[in-house]
Amino acid sequence: MALDPYNSRIDRSGTNAEKYVLRRKLFGTESVQPMWVADMDIATPACVLEAVAERLTHPLLGYEIMSDASYAAQIGWFEHRHGFSMESEWLSYSPSVVASIGCAIRALSDEGDEVIVMDPVYPPFYSMVKENGRLLLLHPLRQDGEGRYRFDIDELRARITPKTKILMLCSPHNPVGRVWSREELGALGELCYEHGIRIISDEIHCDLVYAPHRHIPTASISDALRENTVMLIGPGKTFNMAGFSISTVCIPSAELRALYEAERMRVHWGEGAVLSHVALEAAYRNGGEWHMGLMEHLARNAAILERWAKTQEKIGYHPPEATYLAWLDCRAIGFGDRELREFFVRKAGLGLSPGLSFGKEGSGFMRLNFAVASSALEEALERLGRAL
Ligand SMILES: Cc1ncc(COP(=O)(O)O)c(C=O)c1O
Repeated sequence: MALDPYNSRIDRSGTNAEKYVLRRKLFGTESVQPMWVADMDIATPACVLEAVAERLTHPLLGYEIMSDASYAAQIGWFEHRHGFSMESEWLSYSPSVVASIGCAIRALSDEGDEVIVMDPVYPPFYSMVKENGRLLLLHPLRQDGEGRYRFDIDELRARITPKTKILMLCSPHNPVGRVWSREELGALGELCYEHGIRIISDEIHCDLVYAPHRHIPTASISDALRENTVMLIGPGKTFNMAGFSISTVCIPSAELRALYEAERMRVHWGEGAVLSHVALEAAYRNGGEWHMGLMEHLARNAAILERWAKTQEKIGYHPPEATYLAWLDCRAIGFGDRELREFFVRKAGLGLSPGLSFGKEGSGFMRLNFAVASSALEEALERLGRAL
């Protein structure tokens, strides 16, 4: 029988995998099963590894630029998967989505301006605003009666001031796993447009969506939103290739693009590395079948988690609509955040991301990365069940 590429347990020791190497520093012990950093313990697709190996048969590895073919592969993927036609002049290389967030914040606002950030969210959303001397305008995401996280458009409108210049959007959302609907995005887009607020839309998780949900690229919703949005995309999450340090900034508006490009020139991060260009092209051109298998695997793991959570009185769990990140509501255990983290490390032997690191609305939650072999997930849940 062929080896199941998603269920192989691959030993990452001997690499500098952050998730493993930083265990002692973060959790005080190397014996925890690490389920924190958002990369997968699943091999990067063979088509990517083969393309990189093939490129290495040529002995020259000097400066290279992103080829038209690389951008064409990405454009084709987006058109096919998300029904959004990007033009190549809208796109530019970035070494990391977080770096582009910082660059876009500086390009589209001044020091002292306000940036809307929805709490909870991926931690660099906060730090990029603060490190760049802008002010956080926090808006809490809250669960509705069915446990789905929502923003409140009226509450948001009431908080906006003339200093509010940017909305940071995480779509799909890390850590709560929401895939925002067309209606939700439309309402948000309209509000921003009315108030001259630019949208930085981080869509790095856009290919990790579970049926029947569908990712809607923010810039695809309307002409107004196309002109008002900086979209951040890339193959890092989709194909587990964060180590290639490559992503794409998509800015359809010529005006916003000029502002962004001027800022990008000030940091001069160049055009990226040859092996990353090759990897990106191979992933978007030939990774479709691998990606389909991946989504089936992740859906199976999400279902394992759901079945397990139903047997646990003290854990609340709503399956994510996207991402391989489970947002576990641990409030019923009754611990403070510090105790909760200690409990996961000492009693369950698990290294998860504490909810509080995603903002104060994350208090009492833990984020578990389930992009692992199913047997590894089952072992983790068994240990957690016993500890509980
Ligand atoms: C929402 C979101 N944006 C950005 C990143 C990181 O992207 P990059 O490694 O390209 O900076 C992550 C990684 O977890 C993420 O979840």
